[in-house]
Amino acid sequence: MTGAGSAAVREVRTELVHRDLVDGLPAAFLAGVTRFARPPQAEFDALAAQADALTRRLAGGDAGDGDLPLLTRVLYFAGHADVLAVAGLPVPGYDVLGTFRENLARPLGPRLPERPTAGARRWRVLGRSVGLPIGVPACVLNGSEAWVRHNLANGYSVLTYKTVRGREHPPNEQPNWTFAPRETASLPPGAEADVVADPWDWVAPGTPEVSTVNSFGVPSPPPEEWMADLERSLAAVGEDALLLVSVMGEGNGTDLVEDFSRTARLAQEAGAPVIELNLSCPNTLSASAGGVKPPLCLDADATVAVVEAVRRALDDRTGLVAKLSWLDEQQLAALVPRLAPLVDGIAGINTLQSRVRRSDGAPTFPGRELAGLSGVAVHGSALDFTRRLVALREAGGLRFDVLAMGGVTDPASFGALFAIGADAVQSASGAFADPFLAQRCIAALGGTLPRAVEVS
Ligand SMILES: Cc1cc2nc3c(=O)[nH]c(=O)nc-3n(C[C@H](O)[C@H](O)[C@H](O)COP(=O)(O)O)c2cc1C
Repeated sequence: MTGAGSAAVREVRTELVHRDLVDGLPAAFLAGVTRFARPPQAEFDALAAQADALTRRLAGGDAGDGDLPLLTRVLYFAGHADVLAVAGLPVPGYDVLGTFRENLARPLGPRLPERPTAGARRWRVLGRSVGLPIGVPACVLNGSEAWVRHNLANGYSVLTYKTVRGREHPPNEQPNWTFAPRETASLPPGAEADVVADPWDWVAPGTPEVSTVNSFGVPSPPPEEWMADLERSLAAVGEDALLLVSVMGEGNGTDLVEDFSRTARLAQEAGAPVIELNLSCPNTLSASAGGVKPPLCLDADATVAVVEAVRRALDDRTGLVAKLSWLDEQQLAALVPRLAPLVDGIAGINTLQSRVRRSDGAPTFPGRELAGLSGVAVHGSALDFTRRLVALREAGGLRFDVLAMGGVTDPASFGALFAIGADAVQSASGAFADPFLAQRCIAALGGTLPRAVEVS
């Protein structure tokens, strides 16, 4: 920790004292920890003792640099993450204790005072030239104008507005998102995962070995609301960034195809320059075992029917991207040549559908045994998928851009996906866990990343 960090801890303490929050911290922290389930007694007691000791050091004025990791966890679960953000300290931007709606309105922060850039260097993505091609994919970190502005300010250049639907759709019951601290390594590509994750779990901001599990169920505001918000979001995007919009249809057979087309047209009407089709969601509820449906892209014919119909429904000027989940060799090789003539880009991967339980054996997400695993645990799957996608593009002389994602948590994992041929690289779990991820990638690679283009 630097001297600046130490000054920041002092600033946080001063603010906590000023707001009269210090004495109440242990109770507020434990209320957050137990919001959705209660930790085993020994773990609960240990957390309570740590929070008490921290509070005593804060009250006595002798909290120091070494307290920052615990202070961050305590303030995040106590609902006071904004105090850290204002001091410029890293804290996850999404409040997992809050509702989807509350979070749409307000990223917790921190936000850089000035958008970091790689100077005048630009990269080509989907026909535009953008800053260092790191972005945030379709997810709750990009579901409103507030988030789009936040991500642009923090240095991201390829943003995908969170999947929206043709009618309002509520989120699944909370909790919707937790850290998965036991998943610290990349699993073999496409591996079935059995994840243990508790709602009070925590991984310190900036840890590259971070994984998360989520079960939101692709919530969507009603079209009149997201269309107006999308228009405002697009107006906030400068010449060095790109905002795609992810859409999803509902129903089966021709209903599904028509709903995808109608929703894509609504996004186009709101001004979307590029539409991404979410063909890969692992979190749609169903009455089947596990409580959720498999991703649509596992059915090649249904996928091609959707993409063909949407392409016909859109103006020629509107770009089209198909987002896939990890597919095995045969599935991907069968699908890509059929999609390539229809799309401008292929994105992947989505989260890996996994069995997720709490440490006491109950489902982490009530009523849904299966949820989406992402972060470092899926990085191997992302590398494997991207390598095969790029090879299929080259072998077939196909033309489409590759938007790669899965386990990008630091500059090295960003660079690895770019180096194997991705045109843009996005991060959801990594961006959640490290609000300064884009800034760190720009600082590490902004001057050297290959394939930059001249802009006039
Ligand atoms: C909380 C959360 C919500 C997500 N919501 C969506 C979504 O609405 N649409 C979508 O296409 N992908 C969604 N994703 C998947 C991400 O876009 C991304 O494909 C996946 O998380 C892998 O990237 P990561 O390892 O960087 O997290 C979501 C992921 C997370 C973590």
